Amino acid sequence: MSSERSSLRCRVGGLDLRSPIIAASGTWPHDPSFWRGELTAGLGAICTKGITRNRREGNRGIRLWETPCGLLNSIGLQNSGVEAFISGELPEIGSRDVSLIANVAVEDLPSLAEVLKLLASVKDQIDAVELNISCPNVDEGGIAWGSNPESTAKAVACARSLWGGPLWVKLTPHACDIVKVATSAQECGADALVVANTWLGMAIDVESEKPVFDRVVAGLSGPAVFPLALRLVWEVARCVSIPVIGCGGIAEARDVVAMLFAGASAVEMGTALFLDLNLPAKFTLILKEYMQRHGYASTEEMVGVASHAGGI
Ligand SMILES: Cc1cc2nc3c(=O)[nH]c(=O)nc-3n(C[C@H](O)[C@H](O)[C@H](O)COP(=O)(O)O)c2cc1C
Repeated sequence: MSSERSSLRCRVGGLDLRSPIIAASGTWPHDPSFWRGELTAGLGAICTKGITRNRREGNRGIRLWETPCGLLNSIGLQNSGVEAFISGELPEIGSRDVSLIANVAVEDLPSLAEVLKLLASVKDQIDAVELNISCPNVDEGGIAWGSNPESTAKAVACARSLWGGPLWVKLTPHACDIVKVATSAQECGADALVVANTWLGMAIDVESEKPVFDRVVAGLSGPAVFPLALRLVWEVARCVSIPVIGCGGIAEARDVVAMLFAGASAVEMGTALFLDLNLPAKFTLILKEYMQRHGYASTEEMVGVASHAGGI
């Protein structure tokens, strides 16, 4: 089969994507010039930084800390608020040549409702909403929403009633039972599940003898979490009927293949982009060559291939 005949086009959670590789929230540059042209060639979509009702300054103190094979972040949802997003950022990225997924951070239900009503007023400019019920870096809301099926149901049902377009829900690896949380999100109308956000970690500065981060804990991402995320994708994908988007630690093209084989229909990558924004374009070429070598005409044929092996 010629590599031209291997297509990366796929339909995932109500979205038509030209590639199953998506830039994860908070990791793609804000500058609109990065939303068009060659850099985006390997991407199916870009997720915005988490959007909240009002402007947030983010957390004080150190926000990023490198670990062996990983990155701890404590950004704290710094963003200019939904109105500034709509009036300032959205027009600037209007002429993008990649789909836009608006990542909405759930703080409380009234604020969520206001954010979604405002986004619904510009629904033609937004391809999907990704509901972040999994932020580990804020004191109120955040990860607490996604930690159990009941609160997940409230957040997803609220979002579903106000947003008619594709609705993706981003889960936390720290859910009490991620399969139950995933099932709850599906029952309340999610079109796809992103598995998963960062893992709670911490760092201690041995010179100052104190935790590095003002909030002590922070979210771990990068290659260190890839095997953990892969396992969650495997577990969730076999229990839900909506698509799963694998996220966590993707750093090589083979990681994309492994996520698809575990049951993901697409992937999001973040931390690796800090090293090289061209990775999605590079992965696209490697992926097509792999598909040709293994006789796959589309990535859809690859989804869940490995999921019948093994006995969990
Ligand atoms: C600096 C930074 C900022 C992030 N901001 C957000 C955010 O605003 N909303 C969100 O849902 N996830 C956010 N994330 C999590 C990423 O979208 C992604 O889920 C996580 O980093 C795991 O993927 P990775 O290992 O490929 O980076 C952020 C991650 C990093 C490193």
